[in-house]
Amino acid sequence: MSRKKIAVIGGGNVGQTCAHVCAIKNLGDVVLTDIVEGMPQGKALDLMESRSISGIDVDIQGTTKFEDIAGSDLVIITAGMARKPGMSREDLLDANIKIVKPCAEAVKKFAPNSIVIVVSNPLDSMVYLTAQVTGFPKNRVLGSAGVLDSARFACFVAMELKVSPRDVQALVLGGHGDDMVPLVRRTQVNGVPVENLIPKDRLAALVDRTRKAGGEIVALLKTGSAYFSPGTATVAMAESILNDQKRIMAASVWCEKEYGIGGYFMGVPAILGAQGVEKVVEIELVAEEKAAFQKSLDSVKKTVQEMKGKGF
Ligand code: LAC
Repeated sequence: MSRKKIAVIGGGNVGQTCAHVCAIKNLGDVVLTDIVEGMPQGKALDLMESRSISGIDVDIQGTTKFEDIAGSDLVIITAGMARKPGMSREDLLDANIKIVKPCAEAVKKFAPNSIVIVVSNPLDSMVYLTAQVTGFPKNRVLGSAGVLDSARFACFVAMELKVSPRDVQALVLGGHGDDMVPLVRRTQVNGVPVENLIPKDRLAALVDRTRKAGGEIVALLKTGSAYFSPGTATVAMAESILNDQKRIMAASVWCEKEYGIGGYFMGVPAILGAQGVEKVVEIELVAEEKAAFQKSLDSVKKTVQEMKGKGF
């Protein structure tokens, strides 16, 4: 069996983290692509030199040539501007349409059989754009957000209870924006409902912190946005696809009648396996969750419509 090939487009903080975690997990040979001459080559060589220490067998190549992604099984698009303090993800729309579109065109041309995970923001719109530009079947295009958002909520629950985050099962649905929907009712610590462990007002504060968690990091870093957790989350999705693990993960996936979404990419649970998005998993939402989900969907629709208004 030959090795899988993973292309990471965008060699910034998120891209390099994806490349590093893919390599450490030996998921496949990695091609790190960026437009800045020398940068992806330098980062790839640096990673290559870490291999004997980390137990990495795979190769990591850095390139500025899109054609080097040829034959990739999986492509991760991280290219794009990151937020500066005070910006919303939606503020990146114009800048990142211009960056993500040529990346999607290159994927269509050079890696026509790949599965594409988009990480660039505003996430749900950039997934939409990538699906449109590549014309790939919708099961082969998805966005990375729900695993990250769920991990953040799990982290805050674990910090509050002073327990291991490994035992926290959390699920965050909706668009990757400040009105995402952490499902408190379905959050558990090894089977124990979190509502039995944390008072209501504290839980509300954790939900609020989760919704704004990306911005919290931007405000601290001042020059960019989070990358360790977004990169790690994206590689968890890549692993489920490349190794056909069929894990149920929250991801921005194409939904028509599911959840009444009506033809948008939106964060819901899905089975991720060798075919990409193998099944959207529908769960029952109570009235309050439905209302929050609808609000988040309205935000996603608004940004996608704005993008379409610009001719995409
Ligand atoms: C975040 C960015 C990556 O949530 O969207 O940190």
